[in-house]
Amino acid sequence: MNVLVTGGAGYIGSHTCLELLNEGYGVIVIDNLCNSNPKSLDRVQSLTGKTLKFYEGDVRDEALLRRIFAENEIGCVIHFAGLKAVGESVAIPWKYYDNNLNSTLVLTKVMADVGMKNIIFSSSATVYTADNEMPLQESSRTGNCTNPYGWTKYMTEQILSGMANADKDWGIVLLRYFNPIGAHESGLIGEDPRGIPNNLMPYITQVAIGRREKLSVFGNDYDTPDGTGVRDYIHVVDLARGHVAAVKYVTANAGCEVFNLGTGTGYSVLDMVNAFRTVNNVALPYQIVERRPGDIATCYADPAKSAEVLGWKATHTLEDMCRDSWNWQSKNPMGYDS
Ligand code: NAD
Ligand code: UD1
Repeated sequence: MNVLVTGGAGYIGSHTCLELLNEGYGVIVIDNLCNSNPKSLDRVQSLTGKTLKFYEGDVRDEALLRRIFAENEIGCVIHFAGLKAVGESVAIPWKYYDNNLNSTLVLTKVMADVGMKNIIFSSSATVYTADNEMPLQESSRTGNCTNPYGWTKYMTEQILSGMANADKDWGIVLLRYFNPIGAHESGLIGEDPRGIPNNLMPYITQVAIGRREKLSVFGNDYDTPDGTGVRDYIHVVDLARGHVAAVKYVTANAGCEVFNLGTGTGYSVLDMVNAFRTVNNVALPYQIVERRPGDIATCYADPAKSAEVLGWKATHTLEDMCRDSWNWQSKNPMGYDS
């Protein structure tokens, strides 16, 4: 079966393409490369010894999508394509609503027209409200998003679940990712953020490689064991394998289902700093600064539904995540353009 992967050249998409090829799926990628480098796809092909088909273009381009569906027999779509920088979404909300909502609307319109109605969507733990009990279950409260990026995830969930409700032929899986980090163990594909990283692990690796002076730890007065924020970090290879499990599920089941993709374990910022130093034996200077606006103290998943229904569980440890993040960064100090 062929899987159409939108945003397949990006961080999570490239790791998922690799797992799909290794599992024997055909892979077709559409990506406009607005936040990625096509070398990721070259490397996926050399790592797997298999080829994939790449269309450079925008998911909002309806004519291109129609051509892709006409030229290929597609059994399932994984929809990664989207913009994800929280701060930029606050500064330029229209860009986020246009890209993230219109891509889904155009894609699902074409899918409905050609009668191929299986889709997996990249949602986020950011859709959960800040006042939930931990761990977060799929039934925990959602909404009250603090930024346009989060609203695009929330709204896309509403759009897709409404469609499944109205038309029983749709098979839809909404995957709520927790905090993906790490890289493929080869160190050939990984996260290559543009500009100053917003997220913790890419910032840590750039400090360790000498591209940044020190890490700023955003607050040490949270109600957590050491006062720093606690998150559910998940290895990107585990996350990618979660998508393979979702492909199997969505092609066998109609309706709309939501799954958490997390490990169920929370680590603090200082846990991450200490683990990274120990595992990789590198210096990692940091300073404590003010809290970052919009951050919450603690966020981690209950992954029981994914285990039960998808038969999927994260298997990589914190040590694996720190080792593989550093392996990628040290082999590619300036990312794909090293
Ligand atoms: P990424 O930026 O590395 O990958 C997204 C890819 O989509 C990029 O290759 C980009 O060029 C492409 N793209 C964006 N808009 C497009 C469009 N209109 N047409 C064609 N291609 C387009 O990001 P990622 O970390 O791999 O995230 C993948 C998805 O998962 C995104 O939807 C993101 O919001 C979601 N997500 C990511 C995280 C995370 O921490 N990385 C957490 C939760 C959810
Ligand atoms: C952030 C986004 C979330 C998005 C997710 C994945 C915010 C408020 N949330 O989640 O919407 O889905 O990324 O892209 O931006 N930290 C530091 N120093 C740093 C960076 C981070 O101390 O330089 C801390 C944060 O305060 C937090 C933890 O590290 O406690 C993880 O931060 P980050 O990697 O940005 O992820 P989230 O905030 O969980």
